[in-house]
Amino acid sequence: MRALCWHGKGDVRVDTVPDPKIQHPRDAVIKITACAICGSDLHLLDGYQPTMESGDILGHENMGEVVEVGSEVTNLKVGDRVVVPFTISCGQCWFCQKGLFSLCDRTNPNAEMAIKAMGHSPAGLFGFSHMLGGYSGGQAEYLRVPMADVGPIKVPDSVTDEQALFLSDIFPTGYMAAENAQIQDGDTVAVWGCGPVGQFAIRSALMMGAGRVIAIDEVPERLAMAEAGGAETIDFSKTDVYDELMARTNKRGPDSCIDAVGCEAAGHGAADAVFDKVKAAAFLATDRVHVLRQAIMSCRKGGTISIPGVYVGMGDKLPIGAAMNKGLTFKMGQTHVQAYTKPLLEKIEAGKIDPSFVVTHPASLEDAPEMYKKFRDKKDGVIKVVLRPGQL
Ligand SMILES: NC(=O)c1ccc[n+]([C@@H]2O[C@H](COP(=O)([O-])OP(=O)(O)OC[C@H]3O[C@@H](n4cnc5c(N)ncnc54)[C@H](O)[C@@H]3O)[C@@H](O)[C@H]2O)c1
Ligand SMILES: [Zn+2]
Ligand SMILES: [Zn+2]
Repeated sequence: MRALCWHGKGDVRVDTVPDPKIQHPRDAVIKITACAICGSDLHLLDGYQPTMESGDILGHENMGEVVEVGSEVTNLKVGDRVVVPFTISCGQCWFCQKGLFSLCDRTNPNAEMAIKAMGHSPAGLFGFSHMLGGYSGGQAEYLRVPMADVGPIKVPDSVTDEQALFLSDIFPTGYMAAENAQIQDGDTVAVWGCGPVGQFAIRSALMMGAGRVIAIDEVPERLAMAEAGGAETIDFSKTDVYDELMARTNKRGPDSCIDAVGCEAAGHGAADAVFDKVKAAAFLATDRVHVLRQAIMSCRKGGTISIPGVYVGMGDKLPIGAAMNKGLTFKMGQTHVQAYTKPLLEKIEAGKIDPSFVVTHPASLEDAPEMYKKFRDKKDGVIKVVLRPGQL
């Protein structure tokens, strides 16, 4: 089959590789009808995530048609149309039983590597390094889906691929980010990053009763999409974000701050951001925590910081004293996708949200390397790329 493979920093290619097979009775194989490129894939492209190997197949936002099922998968049959969470979860361990699906204790065969880096191992993820399971991703014609009796959900005919696909990741991720922000009716919520995750966080915060959402980015079309979703905006390349947030909240600061940027924050010459870049380049720190610093400094006393943005290792000079003395609450994590797929599919079916608003670039699988670069460089108005293997 054809698949998008990682070969090193900045180097992804479409290769011909062996078709996936059932390896375990709880597996299914799906023929991919739609898959997407995520901001998390950019951390792989840019070489931030350790333990990648040349030839690894990327892609964790996947849907398709079931073509084969293992003997223990009784909830799916050949021909079903399904969307697949990016988190691989057993459904049975202590964490899965509590709904903490991204923390599943049983799906990372390389748990020892993760334990060394993090103290414990989270769940295995599709297409996301060997430390997180070494599972092949779905930017390909076919995908092996482990734990297929737990993860995939069937998509009704009334919902299109582009409406359903983002149940695999970014819609639940934006939604959980807003839940983690502990929004009370009428609150002011600041969202850093108007990429796809930020867009869903903005709309979810408003659905949960936020009175105002202030969205921060520098890319004009992303700021425009945030405004279309009901947010006020700040262009961080033109304005001091802290000063502007204080001016707009009567010096109080936003009640909740959502960091939907993560480890590759841009800094525009801010002293702390220049320092981050030098340290990351010299391997003295792995993550650029500029946005997180700004969120901590800006958040109102007693407020909440929600972090859906991915961090991979060590951040430097985090103002923990400010966070402690201001009494902030932190909530974060990879999304517990399986906890959200059904309720959010119901919202789509009820017409409360149409997630396809975020798609700007439908493309073929063969175009994926070019699309990765356009998405990384924010060229050509790209906000979200959807690849249609075998269809475009
Ligand atoms: N927690 C999860 O389970 C989960 C799931 C999906 C994605 N993510 C993460 O969420 C983050 C966003 O993903 P995405 O797909 O929207 O990515 P993206 O790269 O498209 O968007 C990031 C946005 O942040 C903006 N940005 C950069 N520096 C900024 C700054 N200093 N202030 C404000 N905005 C800034 C960029 O201009 C860009 O629009 C990534 O870190 C990704 O890895 C996490
Ligand atoms: Zn993702
Ligand atoms: Zn589990």
